[in-house]
Amino acid sequence: MARSIWSYLATAAALLALKATSGGASSYNGLAVTPQMGWDNWNAFGCEVDEELLMNTAQKMVDFGLRDLGYHYVILDDCWSDGRTSNGSLQANAAKFPHGMRYVADQLHSMGLGFGMYSSAGKYTCARYAASLGMEKQDAQTFADWGVDYLKYDNCYNEGQEGTSMLTYNRYKAMSDALVATGRPILYSMCNWGMDYPWNWAQTMANSWRMSGDVYDSFDRPDARCPCTTYDCRLPGFHCSVMNILNKAAPILNKAQPGAWNDLDMLEVGNSGMTDDEYKTHFSMWAIAKSPLIMGTDVTRMTPQTLSIYSNAAILAINQDPLGIPALRVWQSPAQRQNETYSVDAYTASETSFWTGQLNGGDYVAAFVNAGPGPATMMATMNDIFIDQVTTGSNAPVPQLMQTWDVFDLWANRMSDASAQAIIVGNMTMATNATDGSNATSTLPVQTYNATATSYADGLAANDPALLGVKVSTMAPMGTLVAQVPGHGVVVYRLRSQGGAGRRKRDEL
Ligand code: GLA
Repeated sequence: MARSIWSYLATAAALLALKATSGGASSYNGLAVTPQMGWDNWNAFGCEVDEELLMNTAQKMVDFGLRDLGYHYVILDDCWSDGRTSNGSLQANAAKFPHGMRYVADQLHSMGLGFGMYSSAGKYTCARYAASLGMEKQDAQTFADWGVDYLKYDNCYNEGQEGTSMLTYNRYKAMSDALVATGRPILYSMCNWGMDYPWNWAQTMANSWRMSGDVYDSFDRPDARCPCTTYDCRLPGFHCSVMNILNKAAPILNKAQPGAWNDLDMLEVGNSGMTDDEYKTHFSMWAIAKSPLIMGTDVTRMTPQTLSIYSNAAILAINQDPLGIPALRVWQSPAQRQNETYSVDAYTASETSFWTGQLNGGDYVAAFVNAGPGPATMMATMNDIFIDQVTTGSNAPVPQLMQTWDVFDLWANRMSDASAQAIIVGNMTMATNATDGSNATSTLPVQTYNATATSYADGLAANDPALLGVKVSTMAPMGTLVAQVPGHGVVVYRLRSQGGAGRRKRDEL
């Protein structure tokens, strides 16, 4: 029997509705469509938390232009509480937070910042304070009543409710549901250290998930307390180096999507355990992996070098790119040995790797990592850069291979020490969307960006030079990308096609 026109229309409408709900950049709660950015006290201060620390840090985040670069959340980690009230509600330690948590939230909101709070999907937090297992609804409501915008939710004292994905899922889903039920938009940051493979199941109920044990302020030092070198890990531990976490993350990075990110842990930049090149590598790779970027240092005592790393808007623009696709490791040489507990040479002195990722509007990011101690000349072919296009399995030619690409160095316009110092001592406010093409040796105006005024997406669409770095070369069709990479260092490029299919435009007829 012939189908009526109405049945066709109904099918078409259903397909359209499906399209509207199945694709696009959104998330289960509409938050973190790009990776969240902010500051957390844990890496620099541990349990030494109080209201004054949060207020002083927040003020400096505003003064130094960090808020306007996108560092939005001020996250209070463990050790803030003092048990529960007689009706069972969590309560703040009154000595540390004399005005209470609602006051903290109000102050932060008045400064244009968000307030992050911490609890654990266990009986206690990791520092043995009261936590939320079995108390999810009441605690979520307490956080909402306080004006909290973000919850970091840890994994300690979980009373054995782990070991299968379903057990861990259910434990974390209880808080996810409780947060949604409050009606307040609260970003949900799972901190279960990769246990039970959250990258396989957390996208529909959390905005990010930690994929490793805790980071520490070392580039590549092996430590028995962080025993795993692969993502498949039963003892995540802590004291995990930057290279340890990066190598564990490499195989799972593609599991991220807008609104749901692999969290490589908070940044150590500025805590003085690494060199400047090591911190640049740490920051760049977290950014292009689309990890949340949570500063983990004492903002009130930042050095100029620390400020200029956190303020590199050209790198931040990759992290905040509207497409939300993580860069992936295309090759590693020599391959790190897998399934090894640890040994000094598991972090081989000559390990190098190459990473690429697709960006909005047809651009690409390409990063060379040199984890060896000395400088290296590194190269990648177009087949490396466009590996996913090359291997799609179709016979169609890969247009990217036949195009000419402009190569932008994303560290070449790093803010000078003099400019950063001037900001720190308060002599200068950040320039808003400076448009000169100044390079690393220039001083004024400061080459930075105000994402509060103009989103990264809009700035990229307008080709704001603060987001593009400095053009250093062009790559011809079927050409090779080359970089001089310092030891323990990184070179990050944005590649932009000159368009066409590699043919020269005729100048005149
Ligand atoms: C765990 C987390 C850390 C931090 C501490 C606080 O180790 O992974 O990020 O929150 O707990 O005790």
